[in-house]
Amino acid sequence: MNVVPRNIMTDTLVSSADFRGAMRHLTGGVSVITAGRGKDITGMTVTSVTSLSVDPPTLLVSINRDASSFPLIRRHGAFGVNILNADQLDVAERFAGKGGLKGADRFAGAQWVTGVSGVPLLVGALSAVDCEVEEIVERHSHGIVIGRVRDIRNSTRTAALAYWHGQYVAVDQNEDAAKLTDVSIPAGGRRRI
Ligand SMILES: Cc1cc2nc3c(=O)[nH]c(=O)nc-3n(C[C@H](O)[C@H](O)[C@H](O)COP(=O)(O)O)c2cc1C
Repeated sequence: MNVVPRNIMTDTLVSSADFRGAMRHLTGGVSVITAGRGKDITGMTVTSVTSLSVDPPTLLVSINRDASSFPLIRRHGAFGVNILNADQLDVAERFAGKGGLKGADRFAGAQWVTGVSGVPLLVGALSAVDCEVEEIVERHSHGIVIGRVRDIRNSTRTAALAYWHGQYVAVDQNEDAAKLTDVSIPAGGRRRI
């Protein structure tokens, strides 16, 4: 059952600048969402992908309703989630609109295959997830797109691309392993020293 949205009093809300400032502290894994079929394709860089449930496998992504991907996702009822490897920074920038490229032109310079639902999936992504749209919840400027996972192409690559404080950051499972162990907190809750 869906909960009816409450009427929230506006005088308790903070400024968008303060909110943006808070969100800059949140490290996000960088993915490229792909949408469309054939030559009618587009895509966009996002950090809002999150797992929703494992059984059934579903994820969600928050997409600006003005983004060119939004109508294509709605029309075709499918989208791809390409979790980027650190060496795919150029792909992230193209799909964020850098250089002014639009639609199919954003796909140039990288290798793509067509997923089971017809959307392009990025070769060499850490993982490429093919999703069918289960529901779109439109709220404020964005649509929360819930995707039922239809297929997954996992790689054995190890360097993730993240975004933090307005810049891209690489996290390599091998090179950064020692640092990650230093700060890891075991299940008991006590930090290893
Ligand atoms: C690191 C990064 C993360 C982003 N995350 C999102 C996101 O989660 N949702 C969103 O709607 N736009 C996000 N954007 C903005 C879109 O990538 C950008 O607006 C989009 O490419 C515009 O698409 P269009 O030119 O096809 O309309 C992000 C941009 C960057 C650089």
